[in-house]
Amino acid sequence: MAVAEQKITSKYAIYQGDCCETLQAIREGSVHLSIYSPPFGGLYHYSSSERDLSNSADYAEFFAHYDFVIRELFRVTMPGRMTAVHCSDIPSGNTGDDELTDFSGDIIRHHKEAGWRMVARYCVWKEPLAVRNRTMAKNLAHKSVVEDSSRCSVAAADYLLVFRRKGKNQVPITHPTGLHYYAGARKMPAELLQYKGYKGNQIYNRYSHWIWRQYASAFWDDIRIGKVLPFQEARDEEDEDEKHVHPLQLDVIERILQLWSNPGEVVLTPFMGVGSEVFQAVRSGRKGVGIELKPSYFRQALKNIEHAEDEAEPDQVEMFEQDAEFLEELGIEAESGVGHRELKSTALPPLETGEKVPAND
Ligand SMILES: C[S@@+](CC[C@H](N)C(=O)[O-])C[C@H]1O[C@@H](n2cnc3c(N)ncnc32)[C@H](O)[C@@H]1O
Repeated sequence: MAVAEQKITSKYAIYQGDCCETLQAIREGSVHLSIYSPPFGGLYHYSSSERDLSNSADYAEFFAHYDFVIRELFRVTMPGRMTAVHCSDIPSGNTGDDELTDFSGDIIRHHKEAGWRMVARYCVWKEPLAVRNRTMAKNLAHKSVVEDSSRCSVAAADYLLVFRRKGKNQVPITHPTGLHYYAGARKMPAELLQYKGYKGNQIYNRYSHWIWRQYASAFWDDIRIGKVLPFQEARDEEDEDEKHVHPLQLDVIERILQLWSNPGEVVLTPFMGVGSEVFQAVRSGRKGVGIELKPSYFRQALKNIEHAEDEAEPDQVEMFEQDAEFLEELGIEAESGVGHRELKSTALPPLETGEKVPAND
């Protein structure tokens, strides 16, 4: 089995399959940027497939599988380019007396072992009452402060970890007239609007400079948390244990795209969920490549991504060339359209359906 379903257009290629296998079909050094949230070490359970990383026996087994993805992403990324990983600390439970696992710390260690270099850690701020209402975490209840605050904790931030593949970046990521679009809730001071797209000496581009100051902050405190793709319908009714997938906020993805990729470049997500990273990549004039294991999420991703171009904001689509050749650059040969076909790639090892991909090789 390589992929069960796929859709390929000139702007995106999405596959329903196991990323541990499908990544192997992508040519070395052909991806400009990857953005994704991995399953959080088993915190949420997406499916009962033995290929699902959220379905690992324990934290150690999760990392044995995830290491394989980290190394494959290193291989397919252009030297000097980035991978951006969205994660958070993992609570042991919701008894009110729980502890946190330093998931981001472990992700950093595993990336370093695979040769990645960490370049940034951003914190996405969460409003505590909203977190309490969504998670019903006992250690966030005001009642806990009143009764015994030794049992209180924090409305944990999400982290965005950015790593660079070693080697020289051969294609500079340029912004000749600065940053043009602000992804966040904060309003830019009105007097700066006149500088948008300023063509003169960029030292005086106060519009872009204002955006840069927000993006360069380690604390992203105005991400629109509710600005996510539709996800509720993606639930598989037959999967009783399944929790909802939590789509990544489009503001977070847009900031990464602006900072770490040029228009027209290839942006990959190995854990596509309902398609947020590919959707936003297409909306912003990049070429999106996504892999998702769970059929019901893949179908929702397909629906979501088909609307990406309808919703594009003119500012975001700065440039897009209609060259459908990007799959060739990736080394993947595939036909257009949705269908049940195998990826035609000599790089894929012959695996039986249901066979576990070896964690280390
Ligand atoms: C945290 S969610 C990603 C959500 C995504 N960022 C979005 O905005 O919708 C992780 C995803 O990884 C998928 N997944 C787990 N194991 C996988 C595998 N081996 N190959 C591909 N996808 C996998 C899960 O089904 C789930 O959709």
